[in-house]
Amino acid sequence: MTLAERLQRLGTETAFTVSLAAAEWGAKGNRIYPFHLGDLDLATPSNVVAAMDRAIADGKTGYCPAAGIPQLREALADDVGARRGLTYSPSQVVVQPGGKPVITKFIQAVMNPGEEVLYPNPGYPIYESQIEYFGGVAKAYRYIPTPTGFGIDLDQVRSLVTPQTRAIIYNDLQNPIGAESTDAEREAIARIAIENDLFVLSDEAYFEMRYSGTSTSIASLPGMQERTVILYTFSKKFAMTGWRLGAAIAPQPIADAITKLNTNDESCTTHFVQYAGVEGIRGDQTEAKAMLDVLVQRRDAAVEAIGAINGMSVATPDATFYLFPDVTDAMAIVGTDDLAVFAEKALHATGVSFCTRRHFGRPQPGETRQYVRFAYSGISADDIREGLGLLQQWIGSFA
Ligand SMILES: Cc1ncc(COP(=O)(O)O)c(C=O)c1O
Repeated sequence: MTLAERLQRLGTETAFTVSLAAAEWGAKGNRIYPFHLGDLDLATPSNVVAAMDRAIADGKTGYCPAAGIPQLREALADDVGARRGLTYSPSQVVVQPGGKPVITKFIQAVMNPGEEVLYPNPGYPIYESQIEYFGGVAKAYRYIPTPTGFGIDLDQVRSLVTPQTRAIIYNDLQNPIGAESTDAEREAIARIAIENDLFVLSDEAYFEMRYSGTSTSIASLPGMQERTVILYTFSKKFAMTGWRLGAAIAPQPIADAITKLNTNDESCTTHFVQYAGVEGIRGDQTEAKAMLDVLVQRRDAAVEAIGAINGMSVATPDATFYLFPDVTDAMAIVGTDDLAVFAEKALHATGVSFCTRRHFGRPQPGETRQYVRFAYSGISADDIREGLGLLQQWIGSFA
């Protein structure tokens, strides 16, 4: 008996192998500093939890509409629209079990087999996996270092577009890089989409995970709302990664297609969890805002500690909870040019666990610098200082 051929095209999040290696090292009695987790160790706001309890007590435990309960669709249409200066009708909001399903449903809705979709690399690995799984051609575009962080290689994006290109996936406020587009860069991506009549998946998982400034959605640029699907998630803003609640906010024909996919895939997102979402959006924001205060302290602790490590350098992002330092020189000091070896040696010498560039897509030709990703969302500021201090000492011991 053989399994379906298409499974050979299905990728995964190899970052989970880092969790496994850290857990195995921890099980031997070693202290672990978990910088690999793109998860939060903070509690979901108590008013959100209470709203879910009430919903269960009220019997919201049966099926509900495939596209979500009307109250949540309305709340999201209002909130997502207001924060982006746009007007959405609740019918354009399709509730999902998390942000991730928006990726697969967007691709199923807009891409035929054999067609091309552009996606960021390094980037969230599920884009590449789902494009290829559904028989498309995944075309990676890269980021290049700038004085303030990273920017999209716009010339490369332009050169990748062909008559077969259907869509571009764009993750402003980027995982793993922490990059944010300048206005000019966002406008250039929008222009490419309009000139070539492309759909856009705007992955806005980190739109509200920011410490200063304001986020701008590519959907709010002229001519873009009608071609853009927004990936919205409760996972990060409300520390609800395990609850599985998100939404696609889409042009009506795509929203209708995604609703039909919902009916086929899961019937509906967990009914009572959606009431928690309504409270998250409409209710008291005190605890959700307090989380950002904790995260910015962690960011500052991590940026300072990385800056003190020999052979590492990193910019300070205003948003997300990721840092993506260039570690090429640190690797040379330790005596390896293999990222996997570097990560394993660091784990065993210091307990500091992190993902590398390799966990975020196939490396592209011409990449000469090496990067790792430190996520500071699941580790306290004290542990950040302690863990990265050990990393500094370890690398220093080779000098
Ligand atoms: C860029 C990006 N998009 C989408 C997701 C998926 O989010 P969710 O957990 O809500 O499915 C993540 C999660 O880490 C992410 O980093």
